[in-house]
Amino acid sequence: MIKGNIVNLKQFSLKDLEFLYKWNNNPEYSGKFEPYESCTKEELAIWLNLVKPEEFWYIIENKNHEKVGQIVGRKRDKSSIEIGYRVIPEARNKGYCTDAVKAFVKHLLEKEKFKKVIANTNPENKASRLVLIKAGFNEVGYREKGVKINNVWMDGVIYEITQKD
Ligand SMILES: CC(C)(COP(=O)(O)OP(=O)(O)OC[C@H]1O[C@@H](n2cnc3c(N)ncnc32)[C@H](O)[C@@H]1OP(=O)(O)O)[C@@H](O)C(=O)NCCC(=O)NCCS
Repeated sequence: MIKGNIVNLKQFSLKDLEFLYKWNNNPEYSGKFEPYESCTKEELAIWLNLVKPEEFWYIIENKNHEKVGQIVGRKRDKSSIEIGYRVIPEARNKGYCTDAVKAFVKHLLEKEKFKKVIANTNPENKASRLVLIKAGFNEVGYREKGVKINNVWMDGVIYEITQKD
């Protein structure tokens, strides 16, 4: 478990099946700027059984042990990893994501020894950009029509944080 100040991050497990099934089938969870892909409970259960300990898929829980979202890391190469996150609509604007990103980045840089953590967000995703800035990320690039999300090509702002930061 990774501990933050107001959230804990726990690796995905079969215990998260109901939560992930409910929210992955609700387009409000992914929002306007993240891909929405519905799934069946069976597909999700199979997938959860295949998640390996060395992968970076975490449920965000508040200190009352309520599941409020997810944060994930996908290795880009040996020394860098890209993160993504979602918080359920009723738990937004309480600082959960900022705390989760801070704790996750510290873990990735200090414990997992990645040299760089990357995040890519839509320029209009103000909440996500604020989270990254508050967590100490630097804006390093802009990609026009770089990602296709829900069948629409969208721009992306690239943020990074390194061990030196
Ligand atoms: C982005 C997201 C994860 C943020 O989660 P969160 O727990 O609400 O984030 P926090 O509470 O830590 O911080 C949100 C910040 O954005 C601000 N914010 C929220 N909505 C906003 C909006 N529509 N416009 C401007 N600022 C906004 C909040 O005021 C807060 O800033 P503050 O602390 O300075 O007041 C959440 O909105 C979400 O799940 N969105 C859908 C999925 C998504 O877009 N993921 C990111 C993909 S890169």
